[in-house]
Amino acid sequence: MHIGSIPLPNRLFAAPMAGVTDRPFRQLCKRLGAGYAVSEMVTSRKDLWASLKTSRRANHDGEVAPIAVQIAGTDAAMMAEAAAYNIERGAQIIDINMGCPAKKVCNKWAGSALMQDEPLALHIVEAVVAACAPHKVPVTLKMRTGWCDAERNAVRIARAAEQAGVVMVTVHGRTREQGYRGAAEYDTVAAVKAALRIPVVANGDIDTPEKARDVLAATGADAIMIGRAAQGRPWIFREIAHFLATGEHLPPPSVLQAKRWLLEHLDEHYGLYGEYTGVRTARKHIGWAVRVLPGGLAFRDTMNRLETCEDQTRALNDWFDALADRHLLLPTVVAANEECLEQQA
Ligand SMILES: Cc1cc2nc3c(=O)[nH]c(=O)nc-3n(C[C@H](O)[C@H](O)[C@H](O)COP(=O)(O)O)c2cc1C
Repeated sequence: MHIGSIPLPNRLFAAPMAGVTDRPFRQLCKRLGAGYAVSEMVTSRKDLWASLKTSRRANHDGEVAPIAVQIAGTDAAMMAEAAAYNIERGAQIIDINMGCPAKKVCNKWAGSALMQDEPLALHIVEAVVAACAPHKVPVTLKMRTGWCDAERNAVRIARAAEQAGVVMVTVHGRTREQGYRGAAEYDTVAAVKAALRIPVVANGDIDTPEKARDVLAATGADAIMIGRAAQGRPWIFREIAHFLATGEHLPPPSVLQAKRWLLEHLDEHYGLYGEYTGVRTARKHIGWAVRVLPGGLAFRDTMNRLETCEDQTRALNDWFDALADRHLLLPTVVAANEECLEQQA
């Protein structure tokens, strides 16, 4: 699997998620089996580049290559400038966001809203490709299946983007109108794959090794991209890799191993955000990790009231150690629920 001339170790990708896939989380996903991870979107608005939020997103210190930055915006010249700006800061791949349904982005006609205006979408693609070409930086595109049910134009946009020089297309199997409702469909992803010569990535609702296998088979996609299922469970990438290679399930990680990964992640997280923001933004990652474990919901409530890195780390350490006294391996969701029921009985 290549993006342009850049080789990737495998075909399991971490999806860009604003507020989630920051550098520490991307690093963790890559350590645990993701072959590729795209940054959270960076705005094309120059006036925001100096903001703490955007400068954190453009910080790639120590990131494992390839460094892929997603840009979002509505103006071709600004998007071209944003591409050049991020290349100067280390981006080796530029991804154009035509997949995000967030209102904040869509009100300004960015993200998946661009799919409703095909000439503008293409104009943006051409401008970004032209800006990246002198640096030999490949451009990729992330999109949905279309604007709405009646207008599934992913194939048309993907074809035009390929002709304009885009080297890989990712398709999330929902329309803009759907948001995250309903189930992802993969027929349109398969149609995009059949229509293009460049690699196509299937995305949407992939949350188990079996689903990964089935989506690859149903779409013929070159790779799959996983978002929400990696929240709190970044080892899903190696679980899927193992299953695709052997047809067998990897046992869950040990409780103590999961604790180590989480604590290492938090350490990097505090390093990027500092104590005040770091403690607050770490809560969601910890919450995702513990919510499916026995006693996890109660612990999450306690942990949400802690205010320092030291307290948060200590509480997490102690809680996982207590869990390790009862379980060698991380209890599965079903087993965890059974234990909750036993505790309630
Ligand atoms: C919290 C959150 C933030 C997201 N932010 C972005 C984003 O910045 N850019 C983008 O292209 N997609 C974004 N997405 C969409 C995901 O990349 C992905 O397409 C979608 O979640 C479907 O995949 P999944 O079912 O594996 O989660 C976001 C999704 C979530 C849940």
